[in-house]
Amino acid sequence: MIDVVGVWKSYRSGTRMVDALRGIDCRIDRGRFAFIVGPSGSGKSTLLYMLGALDRPTAGKIVVDGQDLMAMSESAQNAYRREQVGFIFQSFNLISNLTAMENVLVPFLPRGVTQAQRDRAAELLTITGLGNRLDHHPYQLSGGEQQRVAIARALVKDPILVLADEPTGELDSKTGDEIYRILRSMQETSQTTLVVVTHDRRFITPDDLVLEIQDGRLAEQPEPAGGNGDGNGNGASAAGLESPVRTSE
Ligand SMILES: Nc1ncnc2c1ncn2[C@@H]1O[C@H](COP(=O)(O)OP(=O)(O)OP(=O)(O)O)[C@@H](O)[C@H]1O
Ligand SMILES: [Mg+2]
Repeated sequence: MIDVVGVWKSYRSGTRMVDALRGIDCRIDRGRFAFIVGPSGSGKSTLLYMLGALDRPTAGKIVVDGQDLMAMSESAQNAYRREQVGFIFQSFNLISNLTAMENVLVPFLPRGVTQAQRDRAAELLTITGLGNRLDHHPYQLSGGEQQRVAIARALVKDPILVLADEPTGELDSKTGDEIYRILRSMQETSQTTLVVVTHDRRFITPDDLVLEIQDGRLAEQPEPAGGNGDGNGNGASAAGLESPVRTSE
């Protein structure tokens, strides 16, 4: 469902180039729960940005549900991000003059909101524990509550793909459990594919795909029993490429 082929990403940083990704190859099947793990600065968020068409790889190819992200027009990429992908990122970008409920409904505002969408938004906010905060504005919510609004907003459009960067990083463990319960139920009921960056391995089950990134490459992965194929990071052994310059974090 997601095919990542030979993906490199280099950033210019002053006069130096930083190779954030150095030849990532992997496949994530539809309905799979995939975790990206690895040290700080290893390229986890960069890979998520590429999967969400938020940024372009320097080289390589990403195909999601038959759509070659790099070959798509800008407007097709916009539609992909708006309609097909649910983003749960660290900066949640809630709109300050909208209520929690309105923020969740933002994906539908351009075309008008149906009652079914309203009901679903209220249901998602209730599940995330904000049933009594529907009319609060972001400044009236704690950081973790704002994060939960962002999670509801990502899920309300029934995305084919959810991309999450440390979705429970700011949350207490009970709320974190609840968030993972929601994500798991999306996987089970809607065959949603989930790609989640985390430092917290306690939510990973044996059926999940674990992509371990180190220095912009995938480490060799032990496969779960009966496992699905995934990448092996061999695509990047191109000769003549010097070792990456790391920035400190
Ligand atoms: N816009 C940018 N310009 C220059 N370098 C960048 C840019 N974005 C990321 N990098 C560098 O690319 C590397 C990978 O960054 P990335 O954000 O993907 O790491 P990460 O694995 O998500 O780390 P963390 O766990 O700390 O969030 C880092 O060395 C980072 O400094
Ligand atoms: Mg990151």
